[in-house]
Amino acid sequence: MLGCGTGRVCRGLAGTRPITGLDRSAPMIERAAARGPESVRWVVGDMTSFSIGEFAEIIIPNASFAFLPDRAARAACLGACRAALTGGGPLTIDVPMPDFTLLGSAHTPEREAWTGRVNGAVVRRTREVFRAPVAQSLRLVDRYWHGEELLAESELLLHLFTADELEWMLEANGFYVEAIFGDHRGAPLSEGCARLLVRAFPLR
Ligand SMILES: C[S@@+](CC[C@H](N)C(=O)[O-])C[C@H]1O[C@@H](n2cnc3c(N)ncnc32)[C@H](O)[C@@H]1O
Repeated sequence: MLGCGTGRVCRGLAGTRPITGLDRSAPMIERAAARGPESVRWVVGDMTSFSIGEFAEIIIPNASFAFLPDRAARAACLGACRAALTGGGPLTIDVPMPDFTLLGSAHTPEREAWTGRVNGAVVRRTREVFRAPVAQSLRLVDRYWHGEELLAESELLLHLFTADELEWMLEANGFYVEAIFGDHRGAPLSEGCARLLVRAFPLR
């Protein structure tokens, strides 16, 4: 599992097969390992340059592939996946489907996105979104608040993929696309669907 974060998806699959979760964030891997289970192997690493053994299948869940900043990084990641899939098993990439109705507005002002507790204190998160349709990118600015006090601010840059683009990219990097889905249950891609999942196999 590449870009496994704190291990949510790895935990869901643990017990069904041997699982390795890789993320470049050491604090996230630390948190994942603390939650377990022990059967999952947790690795701090970069999905553009990993070489940690052979795998029967690789999954890049929940937009992690969209964090790669440019074509060179995406090609490097697909190359590393291809090298690790020695038995010819599948690579599944799961990214959000762009909301084309929103791409026309360059900016969504800051608004409430989440409220929860951190170390017992009520914390809320707001999100401000900047869109660059030509670059096919979103800049998400998240701010964490305790009352009116700003605790932290983080910025995420995400690439928006179309199905055709993903298919070409995989084909150009030594894969063939076996199936494309519009949700996690395997529904076909359709207008208005929220996800874009592609399952591809390495060409030998
Ligand atoms: C949206 S989170 C997804 C977390 C997890 N898959 C989930 O669904 O809960 C994206 C993750 O990708 C990781 N990531 C981004 N670029 C990476 C890279 N080059 N190599 C490894 N992990 C990366 C981030 O650290 C982050 O944990």
